[in-house]
Amino acid sequence: MTKIISISNQKGGVGKTTTAASLSAGLFALGQKVLSIDLDPQGDLGFCLGLESDSPVTLYDVLTKKCPAQSAIQSTEYGDVIPSDISLESVVVEFAKGGCEAYLKDVLGSVIDSYDYIIIDTPPALNILTVNCYVASDYIIIPMLTEILSLSGVIKIRETIQAVQESFNPRLKVLGILMTRNITRLNLSKEVEEMASDLSALFNTRIFTTRIRNGVATAECPAHGKPVQFYAPRSNPGKDYTAFVQEVFTILK
Ligand SMILES: Nc1ncnc2c1ncn2[C@@H]1O[C@H](COP(=O)(O)OP(=O)(O)OP(=O)(O)O)[C@@H](O)[C@H]1O
Ligand SMILES: [Mg+2]
Repeated sequence: MTKIISISNQKGGVGKTTTAASLSAGLFALGQKVLSIDLDPQGDLGFCLGLESDSPVTLYDVLTKKCPAQSAIQSTEYGDVIPSDISLESVVVEFAKGGCEAYLKDVLGSVIDSYDYIIIDTPPALNILTVNCYVASDYIIIPMLTEILSLSGVIKIRETIQAVQESFNPRLKVLGILMTRNITRLNLSKEVEEMASDLSALFNTRIFTTRIRNGVATAECPAHGKPVQFYAPRSNPGKDYTAFVQEVFTILK
């Protein structure tokens, strides 16, 4: 059975795209058939996976049913990807009329059986694109910055998840919360540990054992078209993302 995982948090800059690229590439390196989907009009995921130029067909053309999903798939060294660009932004307005919540799920129907994993990168928003993502997904991974863990910031994402579970997708599950950009892997403060345990209770999920440490290689690697564990395997974030992929793979095996 194909497992569809979205990487989501409406807060910007928490490591969603970095995590999506590393998870896709890592699962692909473990011999899995992987499709990455960029659901963010910022359109970074394709470049993080090594696509070099703008794509003639993007997720926008697929979601608006101008082209079949197959025609937007591009192969990279790190698996297949459906890229996006700024044109996806117009979907937010077009789809706001309602009744469009399951479009992504529908268009993926024709390609889903070709993959073991579909990994979806999402925009820093809770809008109709996010809802489409949750309707299509089996699991959500929520990256969070350790230094600003807060309950208030996550109530909205929990409400959106619950609304989708109730109306469209009862099997949707939060697979876990990933702490990103830690200054150190150990010695987290008591306050952070307490907040992490409150968050895991709130989402009825785990905090991943692996925590991603801070490291400059993460900022450098998109320009080289390589996810961080392939660009700098011995860097702290490189090692941590390798461990994180293994942790996810083991949980879902
Ligand atoms: N472990 C890390 N150490 C240092 N910098 C990191 C780390 N993870 C991500 N970054 C940097 O933080 C910035 C945001 O990361 P990323 O683009 O993955 O976040 P995002 O949640 O996808 O952002 P957005 O909400 O804008 O889509 C990038 O410049 C990235 O290089
Ligand atoms: Mg992003």
